Amino acid sequence: MSVTSLKPSDNVLDYLAAHERKSMLRFITCGSVDDGKSTLIGRLLYDSKMLYDDQISALESDTKKHGTQGEKIDFALLVDGLAAEREQGITIDVAYRFFSTEKRKFIVADTPGHEQYTRNMATGASTADVAVILIDARRGMLTQTRRHSYIVSLLGIRHVVIAINKMDLVDYSETTFDKIEADYRTFAKDLGFESIVCIPMSALEGVNITKKSKETPWHNGPAILPYLESVKVRGALADKPFRLPVQWVNRPNLDFRGFSGTVASGVIKPGEEIVVLPSAKRSKVKSIVTHDGDLTEARPDMAVTVTLEDEIDISRGDVICAGKAPAEQTDQFAAHLLWMSEEELYPGRQYLLKTANRMVPVTVTELKHKVNVNTLEHMSGKTLELNEVGFCNFNLAQPIAFDSYKDNRRTGAFILIDRRTNATIGAGMIDFSLRRAKNVHWQDLDVNKGVRASAKHQKPCVLWFTGLSGSGKSTVANLVEKRLHDMGRHTYTLDGDNVRHGLNKDLGFTDADRVENIRRVGESARLMVDAGLIVLVSFISPFQSERRMARELVEDGEFIEVFISTPLEVCEQRDVKGLYARARRGEIKNFTGIDSDYEAPENAEIDLDTSEVSAEVAATRIVEYLQDKGYLAG
Ligand code: ADX
Repeated sequence: MSVTSLKPSDNVLDYLAAHERKSMLRFITCGSVDDGKSTLIGRLLYDSKMLYDDQISALESDTKKHGTQGEKIDFALLVDGLAAEREQGITIDVAYRFFSTEKRKFIVADTPGHEQYTRNMATGASTADVAVILIDARRGMLTQTRRHSYIVSLLGIRHVVIAINKMDLVDYSETTFDKIEADYRTFAKDLGFESIVCIPMSALEGVNITKKSKETPWHNGPAILPYLESVKVRGALADKPFRLPVQWVNRPNLDFRGFSGTVASGVIKPGEEIVVLPSAKRSKVKSIVTHDGDLTEARPDMAVTVTLEDEIDISRGDVICAGKAPAEQTDQFAAHLLWMSEEELYPGRQYLLKTANRMVPVTVTELKHKVNVNTLEHMSGKTLELNEVGFCNFNLAQPIAFDSYKDNRRTGAFILIDRRTNATIGAGMIDFSLRRAKNVHWQDLDVNKGVRASAKHQKPCVLWFTGLSGSGKSTVANLVEKRLHDMGRHTYTLDGDNVRHGLNKDLGFTDADRVENIRRVGESARLMVDAGLIVLVSFISPFQSERRMARELVEDGEFIEVFISTPLEVCEQRDVKGLYARARRGEIKNFTGIDSDYEAPENAEIDLDTSEVSAEVAATRIVEYLQDKGYLAG
């Protein structure tokens, strides 16, 4: 293809330039299958002339085949492009669609309305400035209207359009419209919206879409498209304080050191002061470098490399902030969490928290309340299930720089990741840092672990026995402790049955309770290691996640996992406490190995099957291991 043969006229260039300068509005449409959402989007695309002739003729022929609107073009067919959707008559995923008018460019996130797809809605809402919430004029406000409104407010949308659709089916009744509008305003008064605009509409008939229609002479407000073209969304990212999460340090040679990343918010120019978190070191921007040369300013969403006037230490994961308005830092905060996993949330389990540029281990320390997304009521609860929203306290392994989500959607948001599957399991909006994070500090004591351990002539560690009930954990642990004791060693045993009589008396055997059981025992074991002891822990501890967390609580080499791998059949046959028989009869619920999972360790330091070796031999092997690895030296 010869590029030189192209001779664009000045007009085209003008047109392209004007198009470039047009502002962009992102909005989300919420509504259900029957509210006419797809028809509205189809209508917007059609009326803004964003369809090609071939799409229109395809639409006409599709209308003949599948249409539900007689001879009229069925716009929903255009939008519900998936065959599966047509068959089921529902919209199933977040779809982004682009269109533009003379005045503005638009990105529409089209999300499904039914309950199980709350997470898709949140995905679509997180980047939108405006939400268009559809209500069927015949049906008025529904539970789903409340749910959609709550989620969009939670995700930080401040402008909503209530599209009261299908007005043609209620004879364009002003009374009907007024009632729905009044109901909605009453309901939404606490949701923190800056503007609510209600528009009577018939997407099918094209009423109040591109211009105000004669059918609703009583309507004082705008038609939808002119409104979307002119709505001013305050709080744009460029108006927020500058934040550049550093993705990498760019050091091609000794003379150049730049910090690269995508600007999350704000604008910065050379000469302006910045502060780096977490170090709190200050400097000034020397230059803003890109592939296409130096820039006079950096704006949101631009990928840039910034150089500074002073040599300060900055690493990947740091955040460069406006000098006058830095982000906060914390390792404990309260946040709203939308749960997206089929597996429920386990408070106490370690997950990974991912922000724009960091991954940090995190636990939910407390579920303060759940929010019923249909009624907005607060409810107490122990866990969150798929699509539920909760207000939780979080504890991070290291501090992060953040802003409250209401101030900055980029630096106030995070996702949670399952450490085993790498799946995204939650989306969070940070509310505030917890005061105690600032007030409680680790106390360094003069008599420390090293001093205590050398006085005891041993290297403190945790021997973590895991295995099924009846596998022989406690029997072997008991023998090991006796031998160590006879050798003059300092030990302590934490045994499931015993600890559950005291510290963990409040816990049962649901998965969530087991997670908390092991979290507490892991923390107790850590304190005992700090006391210089050899700690024997004997708990079923069925989940890999919590065993790993217990391992990570102590230093490298201080955690020895002992898998008592006696098979289920043998444990069940022994049935010392008669519990297996009762579990089989259904008298005990959630019994490990019967109707509750046991995740075997993959890399245990020691693996012993007491159906193959006696408890004495098992104990000897463990003591030998300790001797060989130098735990008992001294
Ligand atoms: S864990 O799974 O949370 O680690 P833990 O070791 O504390 O369990 O307690 C297990 C002991 O509780 C078993 O040895 C058994 O005596 C008793 N028990 C009672 N109910 C159950 C149950 N549903 N599942 C497993 N153990 C149970």
